[in-house]
Amino acid sequence: MSAVSIIATLIKLLEVRVSMSNGVKWVTEDPEKKNVFWPSEEMKKKAWVSDPNVYEEAMKDQEGYWAKVAGELHWDKKWDKVYEQNPDKPWEFKWFLGGKINAAYNCLDRHIEAGKGDKVAFVWVPEPVDEKPVEVTYAELNKEVNKLANAMKKLGIKKGDRVGIYLPMIPEMVASLLACARIGAVHNVVFSAFSGESVKDRMEDAEAKLLITANGYFRRGKPLDLKKNADVGVEGTPIENVIVVERTKEIEVNWNEGKDHWYHEIIENESGECESEFVESNDMLFMLYTSGTTGKPKGIVHDTGGYLTQAYITAKNNFNLHDDDMFWCTADVGWITGHTYGCYGPLSVGATQLVFEGAPNYPDMGRWWQVVQDHKVTVLYTAPTAIRMFIKAGDEWPKKYDMSSLRILGSVGEPIDEEAWLWYFRTIGGSRCPVIDTYWQTETGAHVINTLPGVGPFVPTVAGRGFLGINFSLYEEAGNEAEPGVPGFLAMKPPFSPGMLRGIYKNEQKFIDTYWSRFKGVYDTSDGARFTDYDLIRVTGRVDDVMKVAGHRLSTGELENAINEHELVRESAVVPRPDKIKGEVPIVFALLRDASKASDDLKTEIVKHVDKMIGPTARPAEIYFVEDVPKTRSGKIMRRILRGLIKNEPNLGNTTTLLNPECVEHLKEVVGYTGGG
Ligand code: PRX
Repeated sequence: MSAVSIIATLIKLLEVRVSMSNGVKWVTEDPEKKNVFWPSEEMKKKAWVSDPNVYEEAMKDQEGYWAKVAGELHWDKKWDKVYEQNPDKPWEFKWFLGGKINAAYNCLDRHIEAGKGDKVAFVWVPEPVDEKPVEVTYAELNKEVNKLANAMKKLGIKKGDRVGIYLPMIPEMVASLLACARIGAVHNVVFSAFSGESVKDRMEDAEAKLLITANGYFRRGKPLDLKKNADVGVEGTPIENVIVVERTKEIEVNWNEGKDHWYHEIIENESGECESEFVESNDMLFMLYTSGTTGKPKGIVHDTGGYLTQAYITAKNNFNLHDDDMFWCTADVGWITGHTYGCYGPLSVGATQLVFEGAPNYPDMGRWWQVVQDHKVTVLYTAPTAIRMFIKAGDEWPKKYDMSSLRILGSVGEPIDEEAWLWYFRTIGGSRCPVIDTYWQTETGAHVINTLPGVGPFVPTVAGRGFLGINFSLYEEAGNEAEPGVPGFLAMKPPFSPGMLRGIYKNEQKFIDTYWSRFKGVYDTSDGARFTDYDLIRVTGRVDDVMKVAGHRLSTGELENAINEHELVRESAVVPRPDKIKGEVPIVFALLRDASKASDDLKTEIVKHVDKMIGPTARPAEIYFVEDVPKTRSGKIMRRILRGLIKNEPNLGNTTTLLNPECVEHLKEVVGYTGGG
């Protein structure tokens, strides 16, 4: 390194220090309680909500509160009735009945008409460092959306038709969602890292007519062929047409003449104007498959008016979005977080956001922090698993960059432990920014528990209170409400918030059984929780067979199903093992048809098989070949015992009622169980 460059580096470091220390303090420490923080006067001044009494007011008239929020959006026709619920079937509820709304109109036209057409809707940051970021204004996005919407109409897509979207994080992803919304078509997004088989299952179940995909994308410097997977996903399904975005010229794809259309060609001569299809508020905006407790992912159905109302107000209030903000939600649009806070939320508010194509660690562990610095990100929203990965990588990475633009930090997807919370708060936020821990689910559509940035308090591991106008309670197994301080099942009381799911696609019985059967008249989240100081809620995690692997939702049953399809596997049991970075990782106990076939090669083969059936997010961390797994007398796998073995719990619980108690001793040896915790 030359003397000149050493001096330049020193000056840069000095600049970073100075600007860090210049950052506004958005929080203050509680004078008495350690690790409890409150909004500072600056934050209260800037916040949309800073009066704690609004909680009580909203709760006094929940319907009135939500109607007021919905009134901030554009309705082609105002609703006749705010809320209706079938007294005998609580899951049959509707919001804004008779209202006519269009989600794309609210995310685009509303802002353009207000003179914000030249405002940047999003900055797209490609993964390759030599590719330049692209700014897309609201007017430009509108034009793109309309061209695509018109092209889709020509392919015969109408209101209510399902459209599969299998795209990476590129600008066309946002445009595709909104193009569907523009014409009243229902989008059904599949995460781009999911396999072709996963696409196929979801397209078949949804009876989708069209798939929008890309030829590929960049991941850790390499172009990946997505079209190959999309071809698997389309085969044998009702999909008639495939629109393919040309993300890169580096990938040559297989082309199905007559069925495949290049995105740039099909939109080229289309008009940039397209009438909005104003749909009834309760009409479906999208469906999104998520893992339940059984082997098959379920298609969660969301409506239009209610969903958009909650996406809008939670994005606005919880991230305190203003015109000078640069909001960055790091989640992929393949997940609900990307739908709500990478598209509908910030765009309905009219905010500017950042869309990032790549992996957090490419070309190095400083990439995200460089993005924050270069684009002056003010609100960063990410998952604890990413935070833990950065803790492991070391403080030197974030310390290289000036992150004094940050104002609010958000967390989502799994419980955040105290260490990760404090590191995020101190090292990323410079002890200046509140950490807003947002609890919600694919099913709730938008945040339902969190702390408002202008109200506080911000306490590590504690999500906060029910969002304005949302009422949560804790229940005991017996069905009674839990006494204060006693942990319980987290459930929402009616009126159910507007963003809530309206069903499981084509499966009402499953909808009722999954969410409405354990307790009468309330929505069962399948999460455990407890009330803590200040009446805040700490969510402790799932109480069913759903795992959170690196923040991704995965069911043990889904993984077992996939593994059981391998020809050498007779049966399998999957349980989560706590993991310092990923939160949880899947551990497999596999029973082979022929025990002599057990080998390391077979393990590798099973991992590959999982990649093919689900995708790399579901990769097992360990596979044990065993001869038996504990079962009840009725033949059900006792995962509780396997979980205890994996966690090395001192007490495995009663094993005498098992069909095959003797297998437990053998399993102890296999996993190296000592019972030492
Ligand atoms: O267990 C809860 C956990 O994630 C589950 C929902 O997962 P998914 O539908 O993939 O949606 C993730 C993004 C909203 C919940 O049932 N979860 C989500 N956020 C939190 C959380 N657990 C604790 N704290 C959170 N903030």
